[in-house]
Amino acid sequence: MSDHRQDVQQMREAFAVALAEADGSDQLEALRVRFLGKKGELTSALKSLGRLPAEERPEAGAAWNALRGEIERALESAKSRFRLLEAEAEEHRQSVDVTQPGCGRPYGAFHPVVQVMHDVVDIFVGLGFSVASGPEIEDDFHNFEALNIPPHHPARDMQDTFYLERKGLLLRTHTSPVQVRSMLRHGAPLRVVCPGKVYRRDSDPTHSPMFHQLEGLLVDEDVSVADIKGCLEVFVNEIFGRPLKARYRSSFFPFTEPSMEMDVECVACSGRDSSCRICKGTGWLEIMGLGMVHPNVLRSGRIDPERYNGFAWGMGLDRIAMLKYGLNDLRVLFQGDAAFLSSGGVL
Ligand code: DAH
Repeated sequence: MSDHRQDVQQMREAFAVALAEADGSDQLEALRVRFLGKKGELTSALKSLGRLPAEERPEAGAAWNALRGEIERALESAKSRFRLLEAEAEEHRQSVDVTQPGCGRPYGAFHPVVQVMHDVVDIFVGLGFSVASGPEIEDDFHNFEALNIPPHHPARDMQDTFYLERKGLLLRTHTSPVQVRSMLRHGAPLRVVCPGKVYRRDSDPTHSPMFHQLEGLLVDEDVSVADIKGCLEVFVNEIFGRPLKARYRSSFFPFTEPSMEMDVECVACSGRDSSCRICKGTGWLEIMGLGMVHPNVLRSGRIDPERYNGFAWGMGLDRIAMLKYGLNDLRVLFQGDAAFLSSGGVL
């Protein structure tokens, strides 16, 4: 075997060994450069053909060129094989295993006060009331005057008020203005409840500058105190889930006459624990103000007090939430503590 045949065969074997070891397109490219590049092994062999005696050149040239063809084809087919493998690997990397358990999304929940608001509204809707709402920025007329609280009347001191710079506007101090708005809008007879936010210049463990109330108003002919007692006692038993004793103490509100406050038996101790922290040992919890609508308020709502009368009440929803969930500091309701909120209000 002449020299060049041996050289060609050696290079063929060297290429075959290197090709067998290659395991990716990068290595194929390195092989191409090693054998076919400008300074590659085969390129150099072809370049040195000129140094052979003229009669050997054609055969040697043919042999080297044949090897070049083989190498080119082998590289080409290895390249498409790797391309396929790499595409499959990539596809595998990107594929999603639909049988894997998902990571899930935590459920959101209503804020305890909002939950209580829904519960309270549901009960009154069941008793035939509709839901009304009014603006949180009120005017002096609806928040005070129409409710029988004239300018400079000492009753204004019952509510520390946030006044706005624009004269005559304020953040409503109670939901009672919605009574007047509802009468003006719908006339009599009327049954509405008005839940919403109210504002007072107050802040301590049991008072927050923003809190929630629900107002109720019923206007009809021949309404009596017995009607309001029946209505509110059904409500109390529903919201606390069992019949509770109730009592009424006489009180004063400018917009009702007579005015009362309703107490219910302590939901925690039923009056049996003289050191109960919920009722402070009194056995009773004050839960709302109520009364028969004052004729002046009906007049503000353009309703004839000779023909119609009615009852109204106002309760703090935050207070009901505190009693329902056994909280002793109102502020946890407004601090945005995720652990408290996701517990559904149970500490
Ligand atoms: N508006 C009163 C307050 O915020 C609560 C109230 C008491 C509302 C008696 C009423 C009512 O409708 O009749 O303190």
